[in-house]
Amino acid sequence: MHLRDLIDLVDLRPSELTDILRFAGEISQNPSYYRGSCQHKIMATLFYEPSTRTKMSFQAAMLRLGGKLIGFDDPGNTSVKKGESLKDTVRVTSNYADVLVIRSPWEGAALAASFYTRCPVINAGDGGHLHPTQTLTDLTTLNYTVGRLENLTVGLCGDNKNGRTVHSLVRTLSRYKNNRFVLISTPQLTLPQYLQDEITANGCIVEFSESLEDALPTLDVLYMTRIQKERFASPEEYERQKGVFVLDAAKLAIAKPGLRILHPLPRVDEITVDVDEDSRAAYFAQTEYGLYARMALIQRITEHSDRCVTKTLASTHDAQCLNPRCITQNEVYLPHLFYETAAGLVCRYCDHGV
Ligand code: NCD
Repeated sequence: MHLRDLIDLVDLRPSELTDILRFAGEISQNPSYYRGSCQHKIMATLFYEPSTRTKMSFQAAMLRLGGKLIGFDDPGNTSVKKGESLKDTVRVTSNYADVLVIRSPWEGAALAASFYTRCPVINAGDGGHLHPTQTLTDLTTLNYTVGRLENLTVGLCGDNKNGRTVHSLVRTLSRYKNNRFVLISTPQLTLPQYLQDEITANGCIVEFSESLEDALPTLDVLYMTRIQKERFASPEEYERQKGVFVLDAAKLAIAKPGLRILHPLPRVDEITVDVDEDSRAAYFAQTEYGLYARMALIQRITEHSDRCVTKTLASTHDAQCLNPRCITQNEVYLPHLFYETAAGLVCRYCDHGV
């Protein structure tokens, strides 16, 4: 396998995804066996947005594979402060590293970066768009704790509109057979239409609920998420949405004994601490599976030492993406890239319709 980048999991062939998940399982059985796999390799973590788990699990994964680290987690301490473009920053840092891991508040930033690097790029979260390595973490957790990725009823509760972990998860999990997604949120925070359409186009079922209690008894998996405060237009709007869905131990009385509760973390108030000791809570174990998933990904993505050449791309259309959070709004030199759907042109960076 020769992975160039990981921007979105649906870019991988099903066999490549299966291989990474299988390899993550293998690593978890004997992590120290792989301690020299990335000796002499360097990973650069370019974090333009806050992170605890994603950044540290990437770093720990590379260190456990015997590799080394460079990077930043405060762009204010870098030449970004002097006005350097994303293109220049990644072009230069890709001369220093064998793989770049990027997190940005801008949707489509990792894809944009991948056009200008001489080494692979991993998307560690691009605004409210996607977070593919959290999905690798989630799928590894499901493999371990439920034992299958198909025939599942999965409740997604919280901020389905802005939660990039939810977007990547439904995009990927709907490619497995017979999964049913119960979207539990307020109408304001429902899953973007393009993702609802994608789930049904993949042959899976979408249902909606505004009550966690009503949905709970049917679920095999409950994926809770934080209301994404930083993506809201005003503090008042956030105040109206926060605290609507809270999972506590009392509510779990009506859930299946085999339910698994996942959360990408950090949690704010959507799961009370009395749930932590319930055997169905898998969110802390999930952080450990994330380490193995990232070890597997880094190993696979860096195993070919040949450097890739940067691509030159031309705009595909004259149109301009109007999503204010799209990377093309901030990095104006980027080619305008769109794909065509029955509903019209869609921006390749952020998946917003024009
Ligand atoms: C998530 C993220 O950054 O999108 N956290 C993570 O990576 N584990 C979820 C969140 O911040 O709510």
